Amino acid sequence: MKIAIMGAMPEEITPILERIGEYKTTKYANNIYYETSYKGCELVIAYSKIGKVFSTLTATSMIEHFGCTKLLFSGVAGGINPSLKIGDLIVAKKLVQHDLDITVFGHPMGFVPGGSVFIESDKEFIDIAKDVAKELGKTLQEGVIATGDQFVHDSKVKDAIATHFNADALEMEGASVAVVCNALNTPFFILRAISDTADTDASFSFDEFMESSAIISAEFVMKMVDKIIE
Ligand code: ADE
Repeated sequence: MKIAIMGAMPEEITPILERIGEYKTTKYANNIYYETSYKGCELVIAYSKIGKVFSTLTATSMIEHFGCTKLLFSGVAGGINPSLKIGDLIVAKKLVQHDLDITVFGHPMGFVPGGSVFIESDKEFIDIAKDVAKELGKTLQEGVIATGDQFVHDSKVKDAIATHFNADALEMEGASVAVVCNALNTPFFILRAISDTADTDASFSFDEFMESSAIISAEFVMKMVDKIIE
């Protein structure tokens, strides 16, 4: 088994690299991949850079070039559901590209012919995550994550995404990673800890809490790895 662990920004994978300690560094397709053996299991760790294009490239590379057979994503998100506070964890039950728009041709938002509006995550990983949350005594919310190539910092935009897709959180990579994993038959899991609430104060909140929330998510994902390879 070879597991991919992905983030979008350095802060999202640094806590994982620090925990692992020793790794081999490989440059591929304008990115750096960290390979290691962890408790007898091979891991490939990388941050993609922000957005749908870079995350698509990294997820594809991890599966097709590095041979990963499962993918776990760790990072931060803007909260939509008011029950989600800074630092809270949400796992994607399904994901959608909120900015994919050919509605002028009569298609629903998030849809292009040959695709689907939502992509569902692997149920086994969600069950494992629930077990981990229980063991850690942590609350883990399950919901819809909406992905787009914009940092949302406006309640009107946030509310539109919430209404349209019944979304609980938003970020900039999850749905593109989901599309890749779904197409390449690779079970995946997208975990996010809340860094902001995607309204006027979002950029300030993000700057303040991104690092601490990224650590919360990364620590949870490493517990998931422990359980997966148990
Ligand atoms: N990731 C974390 N916060 C975000 C936001 N407000 N918009 C998009 N992606 C995010």
